Amino acid sequence: MAGWRENKNLIHKMSDAYNQLLDATIQHLEDLKSRGVRNMTVAPETLRVLSQPAKAIATTASMPKPTELSLALPGETTPLPPLDPKEKAAAFGALRERALVCVKCPHLASSRKNVVFGVGSIDAQLMFVGEAPGADEDEQGEPFVGRAGQLLTKIIETTGLSRADVYIANILKCRPDTPGQSAGNRKPTSDEMATCIPYLHEQIDLIRPKVLVALGATAVEGLLGKTVGIMKLRGNWQIYRGTPLMPTFHPAYLLRNQAMSEKRKVWEDMLSVMEKLEMPVSEKQRNYFLKA
Ligand code: URA
Repeated sequence: MAGWRENKNLIHKMSDAYNQLLDATIQHLEDLKSRGVRNMTVAPETLRVLSQPAKAIATTASMPKPTELSLALPGETTPLPPLDPKEKAAAFGALRERALVCVKCPHLASSRKNVVFGVGSIDAQLMFVGEAPGADEDEQGEPFVGRAGQLLTKIIETTGLSRADVYIANILKCRPDTPGQSAGNRKPTSDEMATCIPYLHEQIDLIRPKVLVALGATAVEGLLGKTVGIMKLRGNWQIYRGTPLMPTFHPAYLLRNQAMSEKRKVWEDMLSVMEKLEMPVSEKQRNYFLKA
């Protein structure tokens, strides 16, 4: 009997605490709304818990730890908790399977040789996002394998990492078609980007990199919706759904503009990325592309 009473008291205390937490959360959300905030970052786990009936939420077992409840204001970084490795690998595999048979853009589905989903480690701390596959990537089904890709690989290796340590993907998973042209690339249209971007969102949500690098203006536009010029934006930390994002030049730009000053800018952006990831930076690395 005494045990039952204690349990009842405990349940009352728990539900009081739960109600207080709920009231405080609602109050916080109302405050944010009154300050003009319209969107916020919420961890997938949190959404799952919130979609359960109230009774189920009120048990401590299914409650996310308070630190997992992301009430971050736009502009704040919010590292997400790691996912269960098996569930993560399965979800990533399923996502890949879906993307590989995607026909949402019929003109691209009929012109492509391969869907270029992405490459690297799904546990990467660092993820690079480019624009769209070119002819080489379409041929091989792997992002950044052409000339620009070889330069990207060099940049990655100069940090001390390899392609296998990071994850590389594009805004668009299919090569933008160029009807009537035997060569050349074109920028993805806004419709193509809007259609394809959910795959990238899901990739990022599953990989949960500590840092994103957006390569060029199209990657920035796709991820942040910003059409501010890359010249202005590069080197300035941005935030993509709670994850720090470094905008930098696309390696194809460095192939077109061989000036040491431009190489140094990209390298400075990579030094910032290395620092954010708390990677060691040698004196030699710090001084690359500086005038003698
Ligand atoms: N350029 C890109 O943006 N992505 C690639 O995969 C290759 C070249």
